[in-house]
Formats: sequence, C-alpha cells, structure tokens
Amino acid sequence: MNGISLAARLVARGRVVAFTGAGVSAESGIPTFRGRGGLWERFKPEELATPEAFARDPARVWAWYKWRLSLVLSAKPNPAHLALAELERMGLLTAVITQNVDGLHQAAGSKRVVELHGSLRRARCTRCGFKVRLSRVPEEELPRCPACRGLLRPDVVWFGESLPADAWLEAVELASSCKCMLVIGTSCAVYPAASLPLIAKRGGAALVEVSLEATPLTAIADVSLRGRAGELLPLLVDEVKRLISR
Ligand code: OAD
Repeated sequence: MNGISLAARLVARGRVVAFTGAGVSAESGIPTFRGRGGLWERFKPEELATPEAFARDPARVWAWYKWRLSLVLSAKPNPAHLALAELERMGLLTAVITQNVDGLHQAAGSKRVVELHGSLRRARCTRCGFKVRLSRVPEEELPRCPACRGLLRPDVVWFGESLPADAWLEAVELASSCKCMLVIGTSCAVYPAASLPLIAKRGGAALVEVSLEATPLTAIADVSLRGRAGELLPLLVDEVKRLISR
C-alpha cells in the first residue's frame, strides 16, 4: 500500500489534528524560515525577532514586519490550506494548530485554528495591551495605539518569549486527545511547538508527516509523505473520500 493510501486510512478514522509550519504556505509565495531561500538565510533572527531587537531599533523591526505583512495581505490560500479546511467540513479534522502567522488557514475556511506564534495581521500595544487588527500595512514608521498612543508592536511571538498560554493549553489538549496528527511543512526545530507531535504520539496517535525533506520527526512518523503539501494534501483528501464512500 502506498503512503497516501495508508495516510488516508488513518485520516478516515477521524479525530485528526493538523500541525502546520511555514512549508504549508510556501506555495502561496510566503518564504519559509530554514532551508534554501529561507528567511533565516538572509536575515538574522536576533536582529529582527527578539524583544531586545525591538527595544534597540523598533523602526527596523517594524519595517521587516510591514514587508512580511504586505506579502501576507496579497497572498491567497493554496490547495494545502483548502484541503485542510475541507477535512474539517467533512467532520474528520478537529483543528489546525499552526506556527504560521499569516492567517491563510482562516482565509481558506478553516474554523478552528490555534495560532501558537501570534499573527502578522495584528499589533499589540506595548503600554496597555490593546490589540489592533491590521487589514493594511501601517503607514507610520512607528505605529501607535489608538487607545493610549503607546508604541504598538507586531502581535507575534519572538525568540525568548513565551507562547500565548491559552493557545498552548488548547494545543496540548488537542495533541493529547487526537487519533492522528498530520504534521505538515515544519522542520520541527522550534520548541515548545515541536513537542506537540511527541505529545500526540505518546497519547497513542498516529503521525503522518508531509514535508519536502526529512525532519527530526521522520524516524517516529507512521507515514512520511515526501513532496509539496499543495499537491499531496488534495490527493489525500480524494483518497479519504474514496474510502468513506465505499
Ligand atoms: P521552517 O522554515 O523551519 O521549515 C519549513 C519546512 O517545510 C521544511 O522542513 C521544508 O522542507 C518544508 N517545506 C517547504 N516547502 C514545502 C512545501 N511546499 N510542502 C511541504 N513542505 C515544505 O518552518 P517552521 O517549522 O514553521 O518561529 O518554523 C518554525 C518556527 O521557526 C516559525 O514559526 C518561526 C521560525 O523561527 C517564530 O518566529 C517564533
């Protein structure tokens, strides 16, 4: 039996949770972080994605996030995002847990999306905590809070910061109670997010990995599908439909 058929059998049993990373949005034109052409090849995380970097040079950090927001605002969900939304509508997928900050799962129609690393589409006041939705790229060099005029920052998780507690608790609960976790387009290099597949496995779930290349998870995955998520996930959904219509 090939990988897709095996994965489809696992998915057709239901109670599936997807855990996604930058690779799921690569085919929407959003750069990944690691590997060829990845953001961390061209930019240094410690200069752009830490609280210290923001304290040192907020205009530089904002310029980088505005560029990333502009990419995201003009991007469209790709067939991988759409396939996951379809599995949710079919009642097989409980939720998507994502490390991505692009909002493309929601744009594809996924309803339950747990964002572990925040969102580029939101800013947060460094003084009063007020959250602002960014439906366009802010014009000001240093965007200000509409409530208190404090300095806004991107509402994303930076290196050295904790994940949002509610999102993390929800993710752990989903990982511990799913029957199958689809791990898609992540290098599984950043913790604590990368521990979610391990939590799922310990709870008895099957792991299906979809990625261009091998990752630290490959050794313990039940099925590893190698290739583009935008090509493999629609094939998987077709195979699931074939199975459940039998
Ligand atoms: P990475 O850039 O580390 O990994 C992307 C993974 O996706 C790699 O394993 C690629 O092989 C795979 N990939 C690329 N294109 C693909 C495609 N079309 N189909 C399937 N797989 C593909 O991204 P993440 O694992 O998401 O954190 O990175 C995790 C975190 O590191 C990010 O959330 C970000 C970053 O630093 C923060 O900013 C806190």
